[in-house]
Amino acid sequence: EKGNYRHFMLKEIFEQPTVVAQTLRSYLRPLEQQVALPQIDFDISGVDRVTIVACGTSYYAGMVAKYWFEQFARVPVDIDFASEFRYRQPVLPEGGLALFISQSGETADTLAALRHCKAEGQTIAVVVNVPTSSMAREADLLLPTHAGPEIGVASTKAFTCQLAVLAALAAHFAVKKGRLSPAEEAEIVAHLLEAPACLNAALAHDEEIAAMAHLIAPARDVLYLGRGPDFPLALEGALKLKEISYIHAEGYAAGEMKHGPIALIDEAVPVIVLAPSGPLFEKTVSNMQEVRARGGKIVLISDAEGLEEAGEGCLATIEMPSVHPLIAPLVYAVPVQLLAYHVAVAKGTDVDQPRNLAKSVTVE
Ligand code: F6R
Repeated sequence: EKGNYRHFMLKEIFEQPTVVAQTLRSYLRPLEQQVALPQIDFDISGVDRVTIVACGTSYYAGMVAKYWFEQFARVPVDIDFASEFRYRQPVLPEGGLALFISQSGETADTLAALRHCKAEGQTIAVVVNVPTSSMAREADLLLPTHAGPEIGVASTKAFTCQLAVLAALAAHFAVKKGRLSPAEEAEIVAHLLEAPACLNAALAHDEEIAAMAHLIAPARDVLYLGRGPDFPLALEGALKLKEISYIHAEGYAAGEMKHGPIALIDEAVPVIVLAPSGPLFEKTVSNMQEVRARGGKIVLISDAEGLEEAGEGCLATIEMPSVHPLIAPLVYAVPVQLLAYHVAVAKGTDVDQPRNLAKSVTVE
């Protein structure tokens, strides 16, 4: 079943252009250049506040969605880990939409949070990959990802498919709120439709990333930095690395470095910087220079323009295609997944079945 791939994780990373395209097909109408949710009998225009709840990688997809919902629909979003949300006595808005994101649809804390919100009268929307799961059954609004079965314990293709659904949902929401003109909607649809080709372009760097794994494998600690919607990608990159390579890694909002973590920097700590060119690029690069000034070794992931401007003096660089900021989180997921994968392979760990982890966490 792994075909020519050494691990399920690698196979699933490479499936992303196909499964993201497959997922987008049920949320976009390319000819009309419109977004269309599969189940449209719910009127989202009355929703004034969204609560997002998830765990792990699915939570990071939710963090990206918060930027999008707020930017496009101008609707405030609260987001929390399911395990925190459940026990903090959250104040839920009247007529609110509670959005749960889960690959398996069975994660115990997320499911319990869903049931709590349902009992509190919230409308329940779920982004799930397993259509027969508990969460899918209990939802008012089911937003499936079409990633196909994900076998590798570390989530990869489910994450990018979640992002695809959430971007479409944010755009749909914005249209219904009267925040997007038809021309702006058409532009968003066009950018989303570019995602599969851009994912392919990102995957073309697989061998190059494999060749740089030896630079990271000996590290004891690794930092990931990003800003805006790419900050959750830094968290995701760190999670992927720690769960399969067992290297301690942390993701940080680039601007937060100087408030503490910069004290960790020395030659032994590689710092992975996710910085697509765009409005936040200069700011992230200046944080990168602060790291470099302390001897930090940088792996810069950016596009041709960004690398041209800031690539010199880095330990390594990975060139991504130039993409619209909306799809950058999907595209930049690929190099962080591949880097974690190849470092784990270099260390000889069990990539598909990392120690201490289960695919679906059904205990609280
Ligand atoms: C990380 C990973 C986990 C899951 C988390 C939630 O690679 O796979 O962090 O994302 O356990 O699982 P689901 O999405 O099934 O609710």
